[in-house]
Amino acid sequence: MDEQHPEAWRRQLQADWAANAGSPESRLIVSLYRLARLAHTRLPRGLRKPLIVLYRLVTYLVLHVELPPEAVIGGGLRVYHPHMIVLHPRAVLGRDVVLRHGVTIGITTGRDGTESRGPVIGDGVEFGAGAMVLGPVTVGRNARIGAGAIVLKDVPPGAVVAGNPASVLRIDPDALT
Ligand SMILES: CC(C)(COP(=O)(O)OP(=O)(O)OC[C@H]1O[C@@H](n2cnc3c(N)ncnc32)[C@H](O)[C@@H]1OP(=O)(O)O)[C@@H](O)C(=O)NCCC(=O)NCCS
Repeated sequence: MDEQHPEAWRRQLQADWAANAGSPESRLIVSLYRLARLAHTRLPRGLRKPLIVLYRLVTYLVLHVELPPEAVIGGGLRVYHPHMIVLHPRAVLGRDVVLRHGVTIGITTGRDGTESRGPVIGDGVEFGAGAMVLGPVTVGRNARIGAGAIVLKDVPPGAVVAGNPASVLRIDPDALT
């Protein structure tokens, strides 16, 4: 179903709520993102602009979590400890992704100002605290990114990666089924 279909939006929000059960602050963050995303994709410019400015003021400046309405994020987003999380607007996250405090998912910029595409994060990927994915990187589904890892290259599905620069510790066969 098209992400912009109201039914798809409702299901994503439901999945977000289920994923963040017991964590009202995380539910607040993901719900605000879903509303901002709805405004970004469905409202005319004149209406969406003030709403999105308000969203940015509250979530960026007060809560310090940047989930831009332009970023595509699948349903079931789990946010543990919603502090200091930064996503680039061109980042794409699949379903059931887990973020923790200090995660950055961003682009790289060349000396000439050329910007890379945003990272693409597969379904079920889990980020440890402070992990970063930088540049035109694809992270395969169900991969686990260790705390503090700096990911600069593609990560295969089911891989567990750690370190700076991140390297593959192992591939979990269970994560590939
Ligand atoms: C990467 C991770 C998923 C791996 O977990 P695991 O499969 O249980 O791995 P292990 O603990 O068996 O460690 C395997 C090896 O990787 C190393 N390692 C594990 N996590 C690491 C990390 N974040 N950075 C660097 N090395 C790491 C271990 O020291 C070990 O090395 P060794 O084989 O030389 O002894 C996990 O360590 C991690 O970082 N999880 C994130 C947790 C988190 O962010 N918690 C915050 C809660 S608020």
